[in-house]
Amino acid sequence: MRETIITSSDTPVDDLDRALRPQRMQDMVGHREVYARLLIAVDAARKRCESLGHILFDGPPGLGKTTFAMCIPRDLGKTLQIASGAALTAPKDLLPYLTNAEEGSVLFIDEIHRLPKTVEEFLYPAMEDFRIDIALGEGVNARTINMQLRPFTLIGATTRAGMLSAPLRDRFIMREHLDFYTVEELTEIVRRSSAKLQVPISDDAAGEIAVRSRGTPRLANNRLRWVRDYVTSKADGKISIQLAHAALDMQEIDARGLDSQDRKYLETILRVFRGGPVGVEAVAHTMNLATDTLEDEVEPYLLRTGMVIRTPRGRKVTAAGHQHLGWEMPQEEESGQRRLF
Ligand SMILES: Nc1ncnc2c1ncn2[C@@H]1O[C@H](COP(=O)(O)OP(=O)(O)OP(=O)(O)O)[C@@H](O)[C@H]1O
Ligand SMILES: [Mg+2]
Repeated sequence: MRETIITSSDTPVDDLDRALRPQRMQDMVGHREVYARLLIAVDAARKRCESLGHILFDGPPGLGKTTFAMCIPRDLGKTLQIASGAALTAPKDLLPYLTNAEEGSVLFIDEIHRLPKTVEEFLYPAMEDFRIDIALGEGVNARTINMQLRPFTLIGATTRAGMLSAPLRDRFIMREHLDFYTVEELTEIVRRSSAKLQVPISDDAAGEIAVRSRGTPRLANNRLRWVRDYVTSKADGKISIQLAHAALDMQEIDARGLDSQDRKYLETILRVFRGGPVGVEAVAHTMNLATDTLEDEVEPYLLRTGMVIRTPRGRKVTAAGHQHLGWEMPQEEESGQRRLF
């Protein structure tokens, strides 16, 4: 099978990252419903010798959007081109990808929500009719040339599906949302990754790394790589539960996967703002961090685990958040909560 991958950036891909990324959809752990649907679409496209319908993947970072997008062309036996929404600043940047696309091949646009409006509009006829309209000249001499493209499949990935315009979103035939993984699924990913890295790991140590990985395969792999370094440097290179604990504790990742920045965020609200409600800007200023950093990196997990809630008056640490840091919930809050339910 021929396999060509053309990327838009020349940033070196970490070899270990590449080694750990599943190569085929069947090697991916979890998301069995998504896998089953994609398998049917891929199988049908192969049987009919047609191009696969356009697919949009959305969901939080590190859950497998790029991995799915890279497995699909392999399963189809077709070539893959990779572009990034942020790098496509004008329609001309997209032109080489579209004209080079072979019949049935895949064009993967990562961070597709970052495409400027002009590029998006240029994509519409390409997606719908495999045609591009190129404007030449200006004023009275202006004319448009239509160019026919070979049928191809566009795969888009985004962490911010809400930022996509409706016309672009609706041109994707399939839309798959990727959600967080269970501890069992992450344990399996850690086990498989350790096998690929040829590092022996006990079952309970794999489970411990999984528990501390916030439902995210990328974090599970990153944590495994750190634990592997730790056992290579400090011990005999085998990962036991004791060594996994020691390595993750040294990285200040606690039993629920919070790192020091997450705990500092909770502590700031508790210590400075008496548990909230407080606006995120005020917390960011106190911590000397950008608001975006808190909103994108810290808050999603704390909100998901219910340690923090968002109220109309701002962020508030919940009983679970107090408990996690070993703080007592103020009395009136507790009775207030009881009254609520
Ligand atoms: N289902 C899975 N099974 C096994 N490993 C996985 C799975 N999903 C993701 N991974 C691993 O997690 C890493 C991160 O996944 P990926 O790059 O696909 O995330 P992403 O959703 O594209 O994130 P981002 O939004 O940050 O680009 C991959 O390198 C891969 O090794
Ligand atoms: Mg990605």
